[in-house]
Amino acid sequence: MNSLFTKDTQAIFWNNNKSAIQRMLDYDYVIQRKTPSVAAIVAPTSSNKFEKFFYGPDEIMVPVYKSTADAVKAHPSADVLLNFASFRTAYDVTMDALDLKQFRVIMITAEGIPERMARIMNHRARKEGVTIIGPATVGAIAPGAFKVANIGGTIENIVNSKLHRPGSCGLVTRSGGLFNELSNIIALNADGISEGVAIGGDRYVGSVFIDHLLRMEKNPDVKYMILLGEVGGVEEYKVIDAVKEGKITKPIIAWCIGTIAKHFSSGVQFGHAGASANAARETAEAKNAAMREAGIHVPDSFNDLPATINQVYNDLRNKGIISEIEEPVVPSIPKNRRPKNFICTISDDRGEEATYAGYPISSVATPDTGKSIGDVISLLWFKKVYPKWATDFIETVIKTVADHGPAVSGAHNAKVTARAGKSVVESLVTGLLTIGPRFGGAIDGAAKYFKYANDNEMTPAEFLSYMKKQGIPIPGIGHRIKSVRNPDKRVEGLKKYAAEYFPATPLLDYALEVEKLTTSKKDNLILNVDGTIGILMVDMWRALGYSEKEIDEFIESGTLNAFFIAGRTLGFIGHILDEKRLAMPMYRHPWDDILYDVQKAEEI
Ligand code: ACO
Ligand code: LMR
Repeated sequence: MNSLFTKDTQAIFWNNNKSAIQRMLDYDYVIQRKTPSVAAIVAPTSSNKFEKFFYGPDEIMVPVYKSTADAVKAHPSADVLLNFASFRTAYDVTMDALDLKQFRVIMITAEGIPERMARIMNHRARKEGVTIIGPATVGAIAPGAFKVANIGGTIENIVNSKLHRPGSCGLVTRSGGLFNELSNIIALNADGISEGVAIGGDRYVGSVFIDHLLRMEKNPDVKYMILLGEVGGVEEYKVIDAVKEGKITKPIIAWCIGTIAKHFSSGVQFGHAGASANAARETAEAKNAAMREAGIHVPDSFNDLPATINQVYNDLRNKGIISEIEEPVVPSIPKNRRPKNFICTISDDRGEEATYAGYPISSVATPDTGKSIGDVISLLWFKKVYPKWATDFIETVIKTVADHGPAVSGAHNAKVTARAGKSVVESLVTGLLTIGPRFGGAIDGAAKYFKYANDNEMTPAEFLSYMKKQGIPIPGIGHRIKSVRNPDKRVEGLKKYAAEYFPATPLLDYALEVEKLTTSKKDNLILNVDGTIGILMVDMWRALGYSEKEIDEFIESGTLNAFFIAGRTLGFIGHILDEKRLAMPMYRHPWDDILYDVQKAEEI
């Protein structure tokens, strides 16, 4: 690529540096990018899954990952890494990133990375064709396309320095502060920059002046280049050689900062680690003279630099090499932006018609759409369009668990509450509150423990003894009235459906082996309806391509019990309406059904 960044370039930002990321997104909004320039954040210690940022007047969510590997997997086209790790971690982050082979450019902001490590890191990146910008840098910018973090400063400064749209200068500096200063000078004396890089102030930086200038030479949008070097190092001599060898033909304007050093009796170390002359040819004076001698435009002093820029720019304009730029309209960033308190990712009621995960209600509601409750659940609970065998399974589950008569815990509670004169919703809630580890709410637990046992290749006997040690009954095993001799027809129905329509049922097959063992001990220790649902849902999700991590998250968040809650709501409401229809009086439990064993309280 002849340019470092385009309007489609996306970065992974290592470290949750909110203000720098916000600045990038404000820039994106001002230049009207279609996609945000930050695709993802890597923050190993954060438990957040996303971070909210403003995008113009609105907010967007940027996903957060615990590792660069996870971020890379989810964002395969993000080929820039903005490594904002501290100097202690930046080396490891870079080396890990190089292992992933996705990044084309890695920018490292940390100052003070041990020089030996910086050299290893830079050497490896160069060998692999990866451009390192830094360490100790504010980064780079391709105006109108992509901006790294804080380079260019505030949005006001960026617009004033014409960094919001491409100009014709290729700028390379060591210093970040002077990069901003020069951008402003170039905006005032020419038409702004096409691409700019601050290579960083450390002695051993990854990419050096010559790397960028050779690229800019090939970039047709760059018409001339400006190099702002400083005292120390010999990188400027590589540029001189390239000019002499005819590898660079576009005009270069250059200046080396630090000419004042000659007024001091001993060697001066300026702010940057690399800014100290170790030999006569490393002084700013010597480098400026050598560059001038090679035909590079070198002013007499830094103060004369603006005039030199203006002169080279005007010359290129007169020759017709640079033409007039049409200034774009700059959308303004609204003041007093307010972060939103709620987020919704499943439905939207703002348009003409509300949608379920992007699908208008009318596209799933009526029979002619061919869509079922299973489809609606797949949209609203999972934000996916599942295949028919899966939505039919979901619907089968809902219908299967809708009711199991008046005697079960939840229906009983709902009936008693309705008879106490409470409303449908109040009575329903009392019924729902009984759903838990013993009744209807063992689905998550069944999925969790059977999956764990199977993942860890436990034999059924090992699984049983593992659960015994845990001291809890195996979720999904056992029933009060159903047994081997009185099989649960619901379980048979679900198993039959799975055998016919699921691509495979490895977890169910395992659970049935466990059931053989438990029923050999006691004949009601069958795989019950909760267990069958939980286990088959795992088989379904695996067949649908979900990762183990995603399935574990479903289990942990209680998604599986939700199928019972949704289904049994139908039955509870039926029982409540039944009570109301029958105008049943308040219920009082008969004394003769209670064992009273009340002792007189002891006095203390
Ligand atoms: N795992 C291991 N052993 C069990 C299990 C189990 N899941 N369930 C019962 N047992 C054993 C008990 O330890 C007890 O053993 P013991 O006789 O040696 O002391 C014996 O079986 C009887 O135990 P109870 O609790 O009296 O069994 P009961 O038949 O009353 O319980 C229940 C039924 C509550 C469903 C029970 O089997 C259980 O807790 N299962 C796990 C939770 C579950 O799956 N619930 C959902 C049921 S389906 C539904 O609600 C829609
Ligand atoms: C149910 O679906 O409610 C049950 O399996 C529980 C029961 O005891 O019948």
